[in-house]
Amino acid sequence: MFTNHNKETLKLNNLENIENTEIIFPEEDEEILFVEDDTDTYVQITDKDTWKIMIVDDEPAVHQATQLVLQDFTFENKPVTLISAYSGKEAIELLNQHPQTAFVLLDVVMESNDAGLKVVKYIRERLENKLVRIILRTGQPGEAPEESIIIDYDINDYKLKVELDHHRLITTAITALRAYRYVHSLEERTLELTKTLQELKRTQIQILQSEKMATLGNLVAGVAHEVNNPLGFIKGSIRNIEEYIEDLFSHIECYQKIYPNPEEKISKNAKDIDLEYLNEDLPKLLFSMKIATERIEDISTSLRTFCRSDTSEKINCNIHKGIDSTILILKYRLKANNIRPTIEVVKEYGNLPHIECFLGQLNQVFMNIIANAIDVFDIVSANQTLPEFKAKAYKIVIKTEVFTDNTTVIIRIKDNGPGIPEEIKSHIFDNLFTTKSVGQGTGLGLAIARQIVEENHGGRLSFNSTLGEGTEFLIELPISSYK
Ligand SMILES: Nc1ncnc2c1ncn2[C@@H]1O[C@H](COP(=O)(O)OP(=O)(O)OP(=O)(O)O)[C@@H](O)[C@H]1O
Ligand SMILES: [Mg+2]
Repeated sequence: MFTNHNKETLKLNNLENIENTEIIFPEEDEEILFVEDDTDTYVQITDKDTWKIMIVDDEPAVHQATQLVLQDFTFENKPVTLISAYSGKEAIELLNQHPQTAFVLLDVVMESNDAGLKVVKYIRERLENKLVRIILRTGQPGEAPEESIIIDYDINDYKLKVELDHHRLITTAITALRAYRYVHSLEERTLELTKTLQELKRTQIQILQSEKMATLGNLVAGVAHEVNNPLGFIKGSIRNIEEYIEDLFSHIECYQKIYPNPEEKISKNAKDIDLEYLNEDLPKLLFSMKIATERIEDISTSLRTFCRSDTSEKINCNIHKGIDSTILILKYRLKANNIRPTIEVVKEYGNLPHIECFLGQLNQVFMNIIANAIDVFDIVSANQTLPEFKAKAYKIVIKTEVFTDNTTVIIRIKDNGPGIPEEIKSHIFDNLFTTKSVGQGTGLGLAIARQIVEENHGGRLSFNSTLGEGTEFLIELPISSYK
């Protein structure tokens, strides 16, 4: 549905001269010009199909003369749409409505001596439009603008109003449109290239990280697997030892029953080796060994959970297992070292359903966020100027819950570190942004984490941080990717 508004502002073409031409505007911004063609049917010409040329001059005669020459002009098979403004103010209004204007034929002296120059300034500085070609038209031959004006105001050319004859005006239009088209395609190409470059950088980072993770993952999973063989042997042996020891002790018992008063040497030896205690303690010892092997088995399973290589499809996973395996991997870093005490990890797990996800990737997110918290504790501890943090118990709280809408889970990872300074808050997710020294940080951790959470899982990664109190990262994930 098209409406016919704003007709006065857009004095398009020389209406008296173009009979049967009607300007009709779509409801959206883009105007559509209907031109009657030879076959009496209306041909639709949209913005993209015309070159927009703006004539800015306070003398109606100049408009008429220009329109007469340019109204039927076509360039590369596209007609022109002529837009007329009679003052600098009107030109500015129309330029806002027609950002795609290809070139402006601009008078200098209108409502003020420098009205035209103000329009140029507005186009280049306020609209930040470097594409539109601007051609100044001065009244008198002696009024040629100074070179400095052409340079300072980023004007592309200047003509005299007397140069309004058909041939010169057409040449001017062709040159300007050619330049516009060239700059325009350059701009488009630059935009495309910038986008491709960003995409490439991100892909490169992702490949690097996933390669790093995959190599590390394979290595760790390999080690975990290797541990399983001797572990299986120990577990089996403990079972056998238990049986053998039981047999041995029942044999001793049998002896004791049949020979309740053994020879002196035998009773002395029993006392020396504390046979009674041995009988009592050995099963306990074996039990502890069994528990220890189970623990090693858990570690090995966790390692393999952490290092699991993701399938191409998301699968339903237990997020808590992922977090636990990550903590286990980082355990060596959480322990006290020579600059700081142990970092306590508090788990406040809610009742979470299985989440449809790439768990290997999410583990990487947990890893990057928890590692950052550990880094920050290490940094403040090394920094003697913040003694108050040395007195504080270092803590990382991991809380999980289902959001009230029942379609999202929230994982909060909170540290009681120094917090993130206001001035870097907007940068922490940027690629390669780091406050750490060379070799300690690459500035990729959070960029990758955000990409995994938001792009690969349709979730959200955000944070709250207060100086002196700490930082909390929030990972919001949809329970099912189909909801
Ligand atoms: N928990 C936190 N507390 C305070 N600052 C943080 C915290 N987490 C991140 N930051 C800040 O955000 C920056 C960017 O973090 P990011 O994980 O992306 O990179 P990095 O840790 O510096 O390097 P990388 O993770 O690649 O080794 C950090 O350098 C740090 O300044
Ligand atoms: Mg990091």
